[in-house]
Amino acid sequence: MKVFSSPSGGLFLVWTLMIHLVLCGVYASDGIENCKVLSNSVSEQKVLTRLAPLTHKNITAESKSKNGDESYKYVFQVCGDAGNVPGAGVIQMDMKAKEKKVTVIGTYYATKAFGGSDWVMLIYKNGDKYDSHCSSEKRTAIIMISCNRKTDMGELEVVLEERERTNDCFYLFELDSSAVCPALESKMGTGSILLIIGVCLLAVYLIGGFLYQRLIVGAKGMEQFPNYAFWVEFGNLTADGCDFVCRSRNREDSPAYRRGPTEPVEEEPEERDDHLLPM
Ligand SMILES: *[C@@H]1O[C@H](CO)[C@@H](O)[C@H](O)[C@H]1NC(C)=O
Repeated sequence: MKVFSSPSGGLFLVWTLMIHLVLCGVYASDGIENCKVLSNSVSEQKVLTRLAPLTHKNITAESKSKNGDESYKYVFQVCGDAGNVPGAGVIQMDMKAKEKKVTVIGTYYATKAFGGSDWVMLIYKNGDKYDSHCSSEKRTAIIMISCNRKTDMGELEVVLEERERTNDCFYLFELDSSAVCPALESKMGTGSILLIIGVCLLAVYLIGGFLYQRLIVGAKGMEQFPNYAFWVEFGNLTADGCDFVCRSRNREDSPAYRRGPTEPVEEEPEERDDHLLPM
């Protein structure tokens, strides 16, 4: 009750809540605006917002060929410069090459995004051109992000590099993340909103009531509580009600109450313990 008994305590609570709400809003809209959705589609933009928690992170994967001749490292970012290469959403680094060769697999200037209830597919197009494969078209990266409530961001895996065809080649990646999971049903959401509203109203009531009692009525001490007399009475009534409802035996009949407080009550357990001792 200490917190509520001073007006600054209530105010502090309200401030904390407000700051929290503002921060939540900022987090939700941050980071994904760099992506340029090719179709300018609103629904694709909306799918992208689900990936906001994954922005500003270099997400890396490695792949080796079976004989170990080739070894590549991939870096992926959601709507940000992967490995600091401007515009690149996914890059590939050749770890065997003498001088670090970086190939852009896809750019976030050419983004497509699709999603279902527990997955999001992100497509970055317009990467560097293939040298000879795939009619020398521009590279494309497809990242399949699936719901996994156990992890904020799992390992990025290289699923496949499809380039033995004449067109529409792609690099396919997969990633687990809780970011794309369906919201746990709105029961919880409504519950917490109601709770926040309730706490705010309580704070307003306490602060307003306190100021009114102090400044206008001129009350002192505990009397400064809004409706002090009412709450005291309310508390007593509640206690009586609880006493009436919860107590199984009448107070006067209960032997526990007839005993004096100094009388030892705990005799029986000791007697019972004696049976358990090995003789
Ligand atoms: C991503 O990696 C690059 C190069 O290694 C680095 O310069 C950059 O700061 C990293 N970005 C983040 C958000 O970690």
